[in-house]
Amino acid sequence: MPMAITDPAQPDNPIVFVNEAFQLLTGYSREECIGKNCRFLQGDNTDPVAVAKVRKAVEAGDDIAIDLLNYRKDGSTFWNALYLSPVRGEDGAVQFFFASQLDVTERVESQRRIAGQKEQVDHEVRLRTADLEALLEAQSLLLHEVDHRVKNNLSVIGSLLRMQIRGAEEPVVRRALRSTMERVDAMAAIHRRLYQADDVRYFELSSFVVNLIQDAVNASAYNSLTLDSSVQRTVLPSEKATSAGLLINEVLLNLFETYLPLAAVKLDCHSDGKTISVTIGTRLLSKTPHHEMPAISAKLIARLAAQLEADVAWDRTLDGTSATIRIPVSSNHAET
Ligand SMILES: Cc1cc2nc3c(=O)[nH]c(=O)nc-3n(C[C@H](O)[C@H](O)[C@H](O)COP(=O)(O)O)c2cc1C
Repeated sequence: MPMAITDPAQPDNPIVFVNEAFQLLTGYSREECIGKNCRFLQGDNTDPVAVAKVRKAVEAGDDIAIDLLNYRKDGSTFWNALYLSPVRGEDGAVQFFFASQLDVTERVESQRRIAGQKEQVDHEVRLRTADLEALLEAQSLLLHEVDHRVKNNLSVIGSLLRMQIRGAEEPVVRRALRSTMERVDAMAAIHRRLYQADDVRYFELSSFVVNLIQDAVNASAYNSLTLDSSVQRTVLPSEKATSAGLLINEVLLNLFETYLPLAAVKLDCHSDGKTISVTIGTRLLSKTPHHEMPAISAKLIARLAAQLEADVAWDRTLDGTSATIRIPVSSNHAET
């Protein structure tokens, strides 16, 4: 192992000893080294910051281990893993500095090569990420535009249905048109939310449900009707928004049958990361036998639930009805 000893008592801390291996490594003979400060091994490309660290350590009488680019007598370079430490006398004063030099050119060069390759890969990744972000941005704009148009079209259909309801004389026809209008309105609300959302990938189901129920409570014939809700922020992938929104709307329509005297409504919406669970319960003003669900409603609920692989559980008593809709979602979609 190449070694050198310097004498800090002499001006500029010169070399007083170098071993055979040092001479072999640097190409300088012992005579050429003795009396010189070791900095003669440095050259144009030696890092001045690293040299300053060595200077500080020597001035403070501290150990230091550092890689320095050094030059041989023939001008070729090598990476020198320099380790130097002071040798103190009994009085604690530094008498000599002892150093070992190790040629670590291969290690340093391969580290630099790897760092260079990593930098190149990082650069590529940055470029690709920027491309993808731009693409996503364009897709988001496009999706927003589509949702906007769909919402506008649904609003027009809603208006047409309203006109037809006003013109219809048969109560049965009016009821049929009204429930279709309510479904169209729910779809328009879903698309309005989709195009207003910051992230087109997700649909915030919880606030949609809260609004839907709030609107139903406000429109209810019973002024004293109270709403008690416990809602956790819950999102769904956008592609499930229409089915989930319509399903909940349909369940709600059945719970709010106008001829039922409602006293209170309870809403619970939460997610455990795997399943979104929405429970809507109604309490009646007086004991009332429930009516059979219209066939079209039952069919719609079954079809939408099947699409979502969801299940709807009804609990009907004379005092009220509660429905629990459970929609499975993958863990990264169901936010809390
Ligand atoms: C014992 C000893 C051995 C040293 N060996 C080397 C060496 O092999 N290569 C090198 O570039 N610097 C070496 N140095 C560092 C320089 O001698 C010097 O301390 C460094 O260049 C900082 O001082 P400067 O800014 O005055 O040049 C050694 C220093 C000591 C004390």
